Amino acid sequence: MNTPVSEERSATATEKVVDPDAGINVKPSQRRHHTPVELTPQANAKTVGTATVDDPIMSARDVDVFYGDKHAIKKVTLDIGRNQVIAMIGPSGCGKSTFLRCLNRMNDTVEGARVEGSITLDGADIYEKRQDVVQLRARVGMVFQKPNPFPKSIYENVAYGPRIHGLAADRVELDEIVQTSLQRAGLWEEVKDRLPHPGTGLSGGQQQRLCIARTIAVNPEIILMDEPCSALDPIATARIEDLIDELRASYAICIVTHSMQQAARVSQRTAYFHLGDLIEVGETDRIFTNPRHKLTEDYITGRFG
Ligand SMILES: Nc1ncnc2c1ncn2[C@@H]1O[C@H](COP(=O)(O)OP(=O)(O)OP(=O)(O)O)[C@@H](O)[C@H]1O
Ligand SMILES: [Mg+2]
Repeated sequence: MNTPVSEERSATATEKVVDPDAGINVKPSQRRHHTPVELTPQANAKTVGTATVDDPIMSARDVDVFYGDKHAIKKVTLDIGRNQVIAMIGPSGCGKSTFLRCLNRMNDTVEGARVEGSITLDGADIYEKRQDVVQLRARVGMVFQKPNPFPKSIYENVAYGPRIHGLAADRVELDEIVQTSLQRAGLWEEVKDRLPHPGTGLSGGQQQRLCIARTIAVNPEIILMDEPCSALDPIATARIEDLIDELRASYAICIVTHSMQQAARVSQRTAYFHLGDLIEVGETDRIFTNPRHKLTEDYITGRFG
């Protein structure tokens, strides 16, 4: 189950998927000449492209997720690279959020959810019994669709995590962490004179940056973002996108988005999901200019979803 998929193996597998009956065209030159064949479930189960990276920070292997009888994620193998952004795209209900939640065990909190397969962070199995889930969620932080600051002050929103994780020896250190985190989240200048004010009093875009500051404050290695801009206006969205680009110098970022423009702007790799299958993954430029799978092409050209 934990067999790593090497670059070589997956590239070879990709090369072999030239059977026109599979509805998959591999060669770029063939891209505009898809054979209009319905994909069989078997063909769907193959991921086109390179699912692995050199020196991944996180690796998912043959991951299945079930909600009761519902098979929401099907044998997904995918690496998350360091210092880069991977965008997860696909039609509503294809499993993007489900897969994202597997990466910091948020599905543990979902009634009836069952995760199978293996997910490792720096080589260690995150589903291992001894894994401290609170610790894991500090290392793999999450920013949600709707900004959700705690009903506390701006300062306390950021200080809370470092305090419970014992990251600051004293108040001076805690102040420093709060300031640095707010600076890195691009919010410091706007809030430095109102730190005792409630976080919920900020604008939506500011609240989302506050949530990013809160995530950063506990020194994560990975930041998961599930449609972080969908509740924001275009200006606030642009600020978050700029921020994502800056943050990848320090963190790996996985972002779920319904905006193809956003995926193209912020990510270096893109993964396309469809009905629980990881259909295609590769460099973002390549996915958007030269998708190899018909389902990916249909989605990014707006014919589907
Ligand atoms: N708690 C749950 N219980 C049962 N089924 C669920 C649950 N959460 C998600 N599902 C189902 O799992 C599948 C994947 O859902 P998921 O929320 O991961 O999709 P998504 O790609 O994030 O969709 P969207 O773009 O609409 O957010 C869907 O069929 C959904 O109905
Ligand atoms: Mg979702």
